Amino acid sequence: MVLATSLVQDIQNWSYQWSGAVMIVFFAVIIYVMLRMLKAMPRVKPQQIKPSSSQSVAWKDIAGADEAKAELQEIVEFLRDPKQFEKLGAKVPKGILLHGPPGTGKTLLAKAVAHESGAQFFAQSAAAFVEMFAGLGAARIRRLFAIARKQEPAIIFIDELDAVGGRRGADFSGEKDQTLNQLLVEMDGFATSGRLVVIAASNLLEKLDPALLRPGRFDRQIFVTPPDVKGRRGVLGVHTRDKPLGDVDLGLVAQQTSGLTGADLANICNEAAIFAARRGGKSITGGDFDQALERVIAGVQSHRVLNAHEKRVVAFHEAGHALCGELLPSVDRVHRISIVPRGRALGYTLNLPAEDRYLKTREELLDYMTVLLGGRVAEQIVFGAITTGASDDLKRVADIAHSMVHDYAMGSAGVGRTPDGPVRLSETTLRLRDEERRELIDESRRAARRMIVAHRAQLDALAAQLLSNEVLDRDAIDRVMAGVPRLERRPGVGLRVVAAAAPPVSPAAVPAAVPADPPVVAPKDS
Ligand SMILES: Nc1ncnc2c1ncn2[C@@H]1O[C@H](COP(=O)(O)OP(=O)(O)OP(=O)(O)O)[C@@H](O)[C@H]1O
Ligand SMILES: [Mg+2]
Repeated sequence: MVLATSLVQDIQNWSYQWSGAVMIVFFAVIIYVMLRMLKAMPRVKPQQIKPSSSQSVAWKDIAGADEAKAELQEIVEFLRDPKQFEKLGAKVPKGILLHGPPGTGKTLLAKAVAHESGAQFFAQSAAAFVEMFAGLGAARIRRLFAIARKQEPAIIFIDELDAVGGRRGADFSGEKDQTLNQLLVEMDGFATSGRLVVIAASNLLEKLDPALLRPGRFDRQIFVTPPDVKGRRGVLGVHTRDKPLGDVDLGLVAQQTSGLTGADLANICNEAAIFAARRGGKSITGGDFDQALERVIAGVQSHRVLNAHEKRVVAFHEAGHALCGELLPSVDRVHRISIVPRGRALGYTLNLPAEDRYLKTREELLDYMTVLLGGRVAEQIVFGAITTGASDDLKRVADIAHSMVHDYAMGSAGVGRTPDGPVRLSETTLRLRDEERRELIDESRRAARRMIVAHRAQLDALAAQLLSNEVLDRDAIDRVMAGVPRLERRPGVGLRVVAAAAPPVSPAAVPAAVPADPPVVAPKDS
């Protein structure tokens, strides 16, 4: 007992004597840990790109984005020879914002500027400014501009501006707002000199803070769109420059790839080369491009095994889509039908557009919904049961019908677009619009039903051929559809408009099986 008491006493004495030293050691450890943490924090330096760097991109490596290229070339001219512009009192634009969908070549354009301008070029991704620690992002912006100002004339490129450029006030911690404020000040504050150009790239212009977009900051906003047919031909040319081409019509590939971006096209060229290599060929042929296109659009072939009944359901489903696509003149031509599973799809019908289109009529959208519903309707007619396989089609139909009513005012009432922002629609309007949406979808479903019932023989033939061959190409589809009266394919006109102008169609095209509905070619409202 006495021994235990003396031990406690000893410990107490020891701690009284050494308490100061223990505290010092404790704080030393904390300081050491903090220093280690500071060291471990990512140090992001702006990347300076030399025109002669190994992976430099020249103007000739970019095809299609002609407007963006012209604008940037002008800036490059300005920086090279400012006197010519200054004589007339013009100032160098301070900021150029490249915006557009992913893969359209925004980063690529900036790389070309780095190579061609001859000015100092500093690149940093906006994501590098986003940090957990308050003020660090702003400090990095300050450093980036300070380094660039030392070497004027210079260009700063900030990629993926969305990371810091979003509207202020939404950030909980305030760190992002602070970073953005610093960027605003650097671009148009006291320290600006006039020989520093900021180029930024972003996917969503609408999300950026309005203060960034005003003249004096990003004065020029360039919309980089997916290329048109000429542009696509150019992009294909750029990406096949160093590949041995056999019997390929790149013009045809360009025509078939409406809506695809430069990145998609580069991917198609690469996939085609891989297909050719796997085949052991010496050059890339049209067949390789065809397969590459299918892989890029529809996904990679999967090895799911369907039972015999499921296979029949998928065959009739796809035949339903294809039949409606063939009979409706405003829908893109069916290029191929397949019941080989690819990606998430168990089968697919590939429709390739004949040309670029920027406007769609109400009738064309209705026809498109009809094609989408054709699969489900065919299942219902043939098997008397519906499956879960149509979920993707139904989602797209719902999206189109929603946009038609709410965005384009194409419903029966036809007034008023749904306003943006927090404005709320009344219960009555919402109910009315729900009715309109249902009407549009019903109209399409009825049209699909009429067409499939009237052309049951062709549906059966398409499905039977699909079951035996798995894939049907254009020629095979033409053989099945031979002799079926079809309306002339004219771009820009929906079925009803064509019907109003076209000569009467033979009775075979007008189904008698569903007499309750108005016939497809007799326009309800024309
Ligand atoms: N106009 C074009 N000409 C030639 N190649 C192109 C073109 N557009 C895109 N590409 C190809 O696509 C690739 C990706 O393009 P890039 O990185 O510039 O896209 P991005 O617009 O910056 O996309 P994101 O918004 O996703 O960053 C390029 O490396 C290039 O191979
Ligand atoms: Mg980019």
